[in-house]
Amino acid sequence: MEIKNWIEKAKTELEKLDLGQVRTSGILPSEGKFFPVIGYPPLTMYPEMDEKSILGDVQNRPVNPMIAYVHIPFCPSRCTFCHWITKTKSRADEVDDYLDHLEKEMVLYRTKLGVDKIPVESVLVGGGTPTYLSAKQMDRFLSAFTDNFDLSNCTQFSLEPEPTTILGDEGLEKLKIMKDYGVNRLSMGVQSFDDKVLARMGRVHKHADTLKALEQINKAGIENTFIDLIYGYPDQSIEQWTKTMQEAVTLDIDGFQLYRLRIKPHGDRPGNILKVYDKKAESFPEVDKIYLMKMLGLVISRENGFDEQQTRIFARKAESISHYLRDSCCHLSDVVGVGVSSWSNLRGVFSLNVGDESLEQYYQLIDEGKVSVNRGLVRTHDDEVRRRFILPLKNSFVHKQTFNLVTGETVQDYFGEKIQWLKKLGLLDEDKEKVFMTARGRFFADEVAMQFFSEKYLPFPELACAS
Ligand SMILES: C[S@@+](CC[C@H](N)C(=O)[O-])C[C@H]1O[C@@H](n2cnc3c(N)ncnc32)[C@H](O)[C@@H]1O
Ligand code: SF4
Repeated sequence: MEIKNWIEKAKTELEKLDLGQVRTSGILPSEGKFFPVIGYPPLTMYPEMDEKSILGDVQNRPVNPMIAYVHIPFCPSRCTFCHWITKTKSRADEVDDYLDHLEKEMVLYRTKLGVDKIPVESVLVGGGTPTYLSAKQMDRFLSAFTDNFDLSNCTQFSLEPEPTTILGDEGLEKLKIMKDYGVNRLSMGVQSFDDKVLARMGRVHKHADTLKALEQINKAGIENTFIDLIYGYPDQSIEQWTKTMQEAVTLDIDGFQLYRLRIKPHGDRPGNILKVYDKKAESFPEVDKIYLMKMLGLVISRENGFDEQQTRIFARKAESISHYLRDSCCHLSDVVGVGVSSWSNLRGVFSLNVGDESLEQYYQLIDEGKVSVNRGLVRTHDDEVRRRFILPLKNSFVHKQTFNLVTGETVQDYFGEKIQWLKKLGLLDEDKEKVFMTARGRFFADEVAMQFFSEKYLPFPELACAS
């Protein structure tokens, strides 16, 4: 279909959502502010806490299924939009130094948990760019990781490469090493197929590199490949985005994750995009244009056999999506997070590793024999009840009986009024077994999910009066 026809189709679909009514309901934050609900309570709101309070009695707390996250903070360049903790152009000895500390941290965690190896059901190695590591460093890292984590019941081992870091002979060697250690899914940062947009994003790769990188993955025999794409970027036109989506659905990939540009960070380090916004806010697309881009993403994906298997994650088959994201957001598994700025959730307590870009503080704590956490939150009953409703609702659906079993509450007693109100707005629905978002609600999944936040954790105070 031609670009203009896709745009017309998306506009028609958008009209059906009746944005005007959603706006008057009060669930949308003012001036198009955006806050993706990726955890509850939000990471940014954890108070300071030390290792002893977070992990001191961990062995006496009830055990839950666990998954693992590893943060590798090195990249070929600092992308303008990126708020993650990462360093650029690091020398091999600096990376080695990090791997030394990462290995010590893995040992510390398994010692604290009192096990020979930490059993995990899924793994995500992200960052940063894990494939910034040389082939030798990748081998060393994966060997240490598999010495400390038990993957015998792991359903998926996922890693986030950047295209240029898996090119050439060394790139192929890295991919083969990953495959040998059991990595069976890659989710590559592609962001756009437009070289001009890529340059504005500060990416080092071009469209041609993406295609070559996909060939390399194929050659190495890693069967499950996803790509990340961003919409709502300054000066990105509707036509450019449509073209990028058109290309995405023709590639030999298993799926993609569509990200709306986030201007404000959810972590410690604001990306340069915030400065760009402060200087030239007018170059950023208005919220209605962003909604049109989002709808284009939905329509083009759906009509080409990529279904929205989990909010903003599109795939031909449900099984191929990130198990790490599914397990953490839908099944609410515990998370062991290692590496600077990583996040953990162990037996009722959230914790956040130090987020210092210089890595000095991270190294210092580990050298003192401590896991490098400095913030955390012991969840209250209300935090837990809301979390067990908000995250499954945003990402898939809430199973009423499971919710009742794990929280001791019923969705009706705890959230009945809110549910009725959102049902009247056509944003939520329910049957005997579950509460779920309608197609209209799913389009505003973050905003609908935020309706169930406790007032004290609302990122935008104006949302408190929505009901
Ligand atoms: C943790 S990053 C790692 C990916 C990998 N380092 C790369 O960029 O090639 C995962 C994805 O988050 C998305 N992302 C990062 N910062 C973002 C932002 N400010 N707004 C929207 N999406 C963002 C990007 O699509 C990115 O690929
Ligand atoms: S988006 Fe990826 S490659 Fe770019 S700076 Fe962030 S982590 Fe690194």
